[in-house]
Amino acid sequence: MGKGKLKKWNENKTFNHVFEPTLQDIIDGQEFNKGDWHEKVFGNNNPITLELGCGKGEYTVELARKYPERNFIGVDIKGHRFWRGAKTSNEEGMENVAFLRTRLEFINNFFVQDEVDEIWLTFSDPQPKDDKGSKRITGPAFVDRYKKLLKPGSLINVKTDSTLLYEWTRDQYIEKKYNLLIDSDDVYGKLVNDVDEEMQGILNIKTYYEKRWLEEGKKIKFLRIQI
Ligand SMILES: C[S@@+](CC[C@H](N)C(=O)[O-])C[C@H]1O[C@@H](n2cnc3c(N)ncnc32)[C@H](O)[C@@H]1O
Repeated sequence: MGKGKLKKWNENKTFNHVFEPTLQDIIDGQEFNKGDWHEKVFGNNNPITLELGCGKGEYTVELARKYPERNFIGVDIKGHRFWRGAKTSNEEGMENVAFLRTRLEFINNFFVQDEVDEIWLTFSDPQPKDDKGSKRITGPAFVDRYKKLLKPGSLINVKTDSTLLYEWTRDQYIEKKYNLLIDSDDVYGKLVNDVDEEMQGILNIKTYYEKRWLEEGKKIKFLRIQI
């Protein structure tokens, strides 16, 4: 185990906006903040956005800076990755940011129906060997889980470099007859020219992985559905 990771895991334990339930906690049915995020964590009733598979948490932190009247939670299985966002938000004294370490397969252990208002899925692993797509966190099996914590009318946003993930996810959304509000295969070449200034600002947030893929000349794709 790298010393860097250990240091980050230890520092995460000192942040009161980082929540890291163990697998045993989940097996025991402990409900970390389930139904309590507004009151106990944020101390307000503002809408909650989740960034799922958040990595370093760029969308979580940047959206939280842009929208102080909303709350943002970055979720990832790798605590040393979201340490970056946790540290930055801690240093800046941001009170509308939290991080949760869990596998997304367990996401319904942490939120009740209608507790969440929006979801961002940023550069999710395309899982090229997953023929059935059951591991892809953008797919219908996961959307079914997300529906159990979102309010009706909520948005799910998918930003990806992966043609495989984009085309598969879009086809699944069409097959399931989800309400597909935005479908773009080129965010910076096309979509940003067709949306208002506010949406441009949101789309222009760039994650760690996104910057890498842009340097390689890849086109960024975007899907938005309404639940
Ligand atoms: C390719 S990275 C993208 C990270 C970040 N969103 C970005 O754009 O830089 C995918 C992230 O999803 C997380 N992840 C993948 N599958 C997951 C799962 N089932 N549950 C929780 N996190 C998962 C990984 O740990 C990783 O940090």
